[in-house]
Amino acid sequence: MARRRSKNNLIILTVAAAIVLVVLSLVIHFSADLLELILRFRADKIATPEHIIAALQLVLFGILAYIVVRALNFTVFGLFRLRRGFDAPTLVQNVFSIIAFSLLFLLIFSWEFPNANLGALFTTSAIFGVILGLALQDTLGNFFAGISLQADRPFQVGDVITVGAQRHTGVVEEISWRAIKIRTFQNHVVLINNSSAAKEPIEVCPRDNLNARLVFFNTLYTDSPAKTIHVVREAVREADNVSDRITPVVRIRNLGDSGVDYECKYWLVDYAKYNDTDALVRQRIWYAFRRADLNFAFPTQTLHIERKPVTLGEVDGGALVERLAAVDIFAPLSVEETGMLAQAAVRHVFAPGETVIRAGEEGSSMFVVHNGRVQVQVNENGRPRPVATLNEGDFFGEMALFTGEPRTANVVAIEETEVLEIGHGAMKRVFDTNPDLVESLSFIISERRQGLVTHVDSDTSQGESSAGILSAIRRFFGIS
Ligand code: CMP
Repeated sequence: MARRRSKNNLIILTVAAAIVLVVLSLVIHFSADLLELILRFRADKIATPEHIIAALQLVLFGILAYIVVRALNFTVFGLFRLRRGFDAPTLVQNVFSIIAFSLLFLLIFSWEFPNANLGALFTTSAIFGVILGLALQDTLGNFFAGISLQADRPFQVGDVITVGAQRHTGVVEEISWRAIKIRTFQNHVVLINNSSAAKEPIEVCPRDNLNARLVFFNTLYTDSPAKTIHVVREAVREADNVSDRITPVVRIRNLGDSGVDYECKYWLVDYAKYNDTDALVRQRIWYAFRRADLNFAFPTQTLHIERKPVTLGEVDGGALVERLAAVDIFAPLSVEETGMLAQAAVRHVFAPGETVIRAGEEGSSMFVVHNGRVQVQVNENGRPRPVATLNEGDFFGEMALFTGEPRTANVVAIEETEVLEIGHGAMKRVFDTNPDLVESLSFIISERRQGLVTHVDSDTSQGESSAGILSAIRRFFGIS
C-alpha cells in the first residue's frame, strides 16, 4: 500500500514537473511578446514590465522548487527506509521539506529581485513579526509539541493509546507535525492535536510489550475459591491471543453482596485485539463453570424469585437412555443396563476450539457426543493433524479407559459440543453384568489403533491385535 502511494506520488511529481517546465520554457521563449503585451495593457506605473516577468518567473520557479523538494524528500527518505528498514518520522520529513523549500525560495527570490533587501524586510518589520506570531501560534504549538513527542518517543506507530478526558482509544497510525492520528476500535479515525496531547495524560500500551487485561466475574458463596481459581485459570490460559509466557492470575477482589467477586488478569500477545480476547475469555469462563458445576452469583434481589435457567441441551433421563442405546458399542446392553449407564453419565459442554481430551494425559473415562461435533487429532511432527471427525452418537476416549494407557490423541470441539462422560466405575458394573461387551469393544479399539499408527509421532501407539487388547481390558477391569 505504502509502495503504491509512493509510486503515485512519483507519477504526479513527474507530470507536474513536466507541465511547469513546458510553461516556463514558453514564458522564457515568448518573453519579448509578453513584454509587448504587458506594455500595451499596463494599467499602473508602479510595476515595470521586468518586475511582472520576474514575479511570474518567481511563481513558476517556486512551483518547480516545490517539486524538486518533494523529489529530494522522496529520494532521501526512500534511501533511509532502504538502509534502516523503517520510515523516518513524518515530522522529520516535513521539517526537511520546509527548510529545503524556504532556502530554495529565498535563493530564487534574490536571483529574480537582486535589488530587494530581504534581511531588512524581515528584521525591521516588527508588525510583520507580531502578525506572523499570532497567525502561527497554534501551528507552532503543535509543531514544537510534535518535536518533543518525536524526541521522547513515548509511543510509536502500532501502539494502542488512550488520550485525554474523552478517553479516545485506538491504534496509532501516524504522528505528524500537526497531530496524532489514531484508528479506534470502531474503525474511526481520530486526530488529536500535538499541543492538546502534550497537555493530557496518555495511557500507552506498546506493541512489543506484554500488556495485561482484567476480566471480572463472581460465584456463589457455596463455590470453593480454590476450585474456582484453578478452573478459570486453566480455561483462560488456553484461549487464543492469551500469552503463554505468563500464567493468568485469578484472585478474589471482594466478598460482595451477591457472591464472591473475582478478577482474572491475563496477558495478550496482540493487545490491539483485546476486545475479542476479553469476549473469548468470558465465554471460556462460562463453559468452564458449566463443566465444573460452578455458579455465577445472581443479584440478591432476584435470588429468591429466579428459577434455575433452562440450560443448553437440557435433556431428561429418557433421552439420555435413548442416546446411549443408539451408540453401537452399547447395542448389546439391556434397557436396564443402559439405564444404569445413563444414570452414571455426566454432561459437559465445550466451546468451539476447546480441548476435551489431550494426548498423553491419564484418563479414566470415555465420552459420547450428545450434541455437536469433535475432531480427533494426532501430533505429527509436533503439529496437530486431524484423523477423524466424530458426530452425535459417536464415542471416544475408550482406549485409555479400557486399557489404562495414556490418551492416544487430542479431541477438540469443532462447534459447541455437549458430551456424556462415562467413568471407570460405571463401565465396570456394565462389564460385570455383560462380559460379551468386552469383545466388541476390543475390536473397535484395535481398528482405531491401526488408524493411528500411520500418523502418530509417539511410540505409545503401536498397532495391537484385538486379542491383545481384549486381554488388556480383562486384566485392567479384573474380568476373568
Ligand atoms: P483415548 O486414547 O482414550 O483418547 C483419545 C481418543 O481419540 C481415543 O481414545 C479414541 O477414542 C479416539 N481416536 C483415536 N484414534 C481414532 C481414530 N482413528 N478414529 C476415531 N477416533 C479415534
